[in-house]
Amino acid sequence: MDFKLTEEHIMIRDAARDFAKQELLPGVIERDEKQEFPKELIKKMGELGFLGMMASPEYGGGGMDTISYVLAMEELSKIDASASVMVSVNNSLVCWGLDTFGSEEQKKKYLSKLTTGEKLGAFCLSEPEAGSDATSQRTTAIDKGDHYILNGTKNWITNGSSADYYLVIAQTDKEKKHKGINAFIVEKDFEGFEIGPKEQKLGIRGSDTHSLNFNDVKVPKENRIGEDGFGFKFAMKTLSGGRIGIAAQALGIAAGAYELAKDYSKQRKAFGTEICNHQAIAFKLADMHTQIEAARHLVMKAAWDKDQGENYDLSGAMAKLHASKTAMDVTVEAVQVHGGNGYVKEYHVERLMRDAKITQIYEGTSEIQKIVISRSILKD
Ligand code: CAA
Repeated sequence: MDFKLTEEHIMIRDAARDFAKQELLPGVIERDEKQEFPKELIKKMGELGFLGMMASPEYGGGGMDTISYVLAMEELSKIDASASVMVSVNNSLVCWGLDTFGSEEQKKKYLSKLTTGEKLGAFCLSEPEAGSDATSQRTTAIDKGDHYILNGTKNWITNGSSADYYLVIAQTDKEKKHKGINAFIVEKDFEGFEIGPKEQKLGIRGSDTHSLNFNDVKVPKENRIGEDGFGFKFAMKTLSGGRIGIAAQALGIAAGAYELAKDYSKQRKAFGTEICNHQAIAFKLADMHTQIEAARHLVMKAAWDKDQGENYDLSGAMAKLHASKTAMDVTVEAVQVHGGNGYVKEYHVERLMRDAKITQIYEGTSEIQKIVISRSILKD
């Protein structure tokens, strides 16, 4: 067993770390306040290769392994989880989904623009009444021969307004339940496609989240991904990998907050000494560090499973479950270590604490991860 990173992995991690410090850190508080993310910054992430890391080089992707991807996700998330969720959705859900299951034409037309940052993608599964219960899709896609007609509403869509291409899951044949579900590529300017109001969120406020409306949207048949009825499996398979990316995001949020708390504890003095010299603080740091290391091992194992061609449904769900709890626990403690300063924006930990919560909700709540885990361990 070799726990060592390769030179290439270290290079990618360091590049992401430098980018996060130089480009994401300035303005992160303002972006959070204003709930905005400049287009130029998304473009820059694309130019540097962060938006199509694992995708095939023939379609503009980086051809990297999942380990490289999670290392980058951790570094970006230490500084700006709003940026990293855009990276995560575009890489894990949109690019990976198209690269793995898309047709040659779809890859040429759409994937090659999504990997470079020329275009941004969104993944549209959740609905007002189908969040965790993903088989209960109400959005319909009626087969009209050479095209489908889409009607319905999607909710809580990351990159809702900043995306150009949307992977949309919809019900074609209700009788067939999940086997009657399809996935489609919808372009932003398709007639009848409408972006709803922006959600006012607790965390990851820099990233835009919207509801989307589909009013008789005509989608060409060649924009369906895979065979008729493949949509639910497409969503499940794509989300399995997405969960590794979000686990890495949670890990990064936790690690970012821990590093800030550790540094602060070495500078701040109380009762005649730096506060790290008080066991009350030192023991907190010990717990935080241990929890983060455990999360890192789970994230790396899930990424390794994926790279080795092993099944990663279980390891990905465990990584997400544990890393997202770690993000919550560690960020709360990081605020505590900072005392009053932890409660104000300029020290960053209050934002990380707000950002942490979503990692227990999106791409499957913690309860959904427990369903996946328990089904997997009980099946034999
Ligand atoms: N890979 C391949 N196939 C899978 C699969 C997987 N990981 N998981 C399930 N399936 C298949 C099953 O094999 C089954 O197929 P067959 O009938 O052919 O055997 C089919 O899918 C239905 O499976 P289940 O009976 O297990 O389905 P279920 O209704 O019990 O639901 C669930 C399973 C795990 C709870 C699923 O509904 C789920 O993951 N829900 C959460 C959805 C989710 O993560 N939403 C997040 C939205 S996206 C997002 O947040 C993105 C963003 O913007 C950041």
